Amino acid sequence: MNAAERSSVVINYLLENRDVFSDTDINIILSNMNIEDTLYSIPNVVLQLYDELGILPDEINSYKAFSKLINEQFNIKDKNVVEIGGGVIPRLAKRLSLMQDRGTVVVYDPNIYLNKAYYPNLKLIKRKFFPITNVDMADVLVGLLPCGSSSSIIKSAIKHNKDFMIALCDSCNYLEYFDGYEQDPDWPNNFINQAAYAVEENNMGKLKVKRLREVGLQYPIIYNDRG
Ligand SMILES: C[S@@+](CC[C@H](N)C(=O)[O-])C[C@H]1O[C@@H](n2cnc3c(N)ncnc32)[C@H](O)[C@@H]1O
Repeated sequence: MNAAERSSVVINYLLENRDVFSDTDINIILSNMNIEDTLYSIPNVVLQLYDELGILPDEINSYKAFSKLINEQFNIKDKNVVEIGGGVIPRLAKRLSLMQDRGTVVVYDPNIYLNKAYYPNLKLIKRKFFPITNVDMADVLVGLLPCGSSSSIIKSAIKHNKDFMIALCDSCNYLEYFDGYEQDPDWPNNFINQAAYAVEENNMGKLKVKRLREVGLQYPIIYNDRG
């Protein structure tokens, strides 16, 4: 698909689905039509929309690559997954729910677009997730660039002994659990060290670190492995 065709598909979607994105997001989408040369700086709403439209190339598709990694590690076919920070169009959650037989996916995000046409095993919750949010039914907590909620995810996972996988991001890393990261240039390493300690202290296996830089995930992916 060339750039002109892509623009036409995007504009048609925006015209037909006027209420999905905020005016700010629409401006971001319209001013970031060229995804070829800006891999690390493509805004998330653009990636979400392009994946929704089926025009996000596999080579830069973090939703495809991260859902595959989650499934390889936790075999989510029959698991209950909670995603925190799913975005406006919850592309990761949609992909995860399609990998399931009997499991469920619940997504929290205050900015999510509520659309009843999604799949029966996918539940959208338009609210912030907190460490006190009930996760009794969950087997796995996940987050793809979930901003400041990385700390809430780890806090909740540790408190309730749930598996987790997070693709960390550099935005709003003010962590209630691991204090003082906002100004810390070495935050990924410090975050990893403290998460590793918390995982081992609570007998949740070992903390593992992976990378998916090639699809635009600049920061480490962390998860517990009960081995
Ligand atoms: C950088 S975006 C990533 C969105 C999506 N995961 C993606 O990769 O396309 C971060 C999202 O996290 C959400 N978020 C931040 N803190 C949250 C919290 N405590 N609970 C739920 N969502 C949160 C924001 O509203 C935003 O949509």
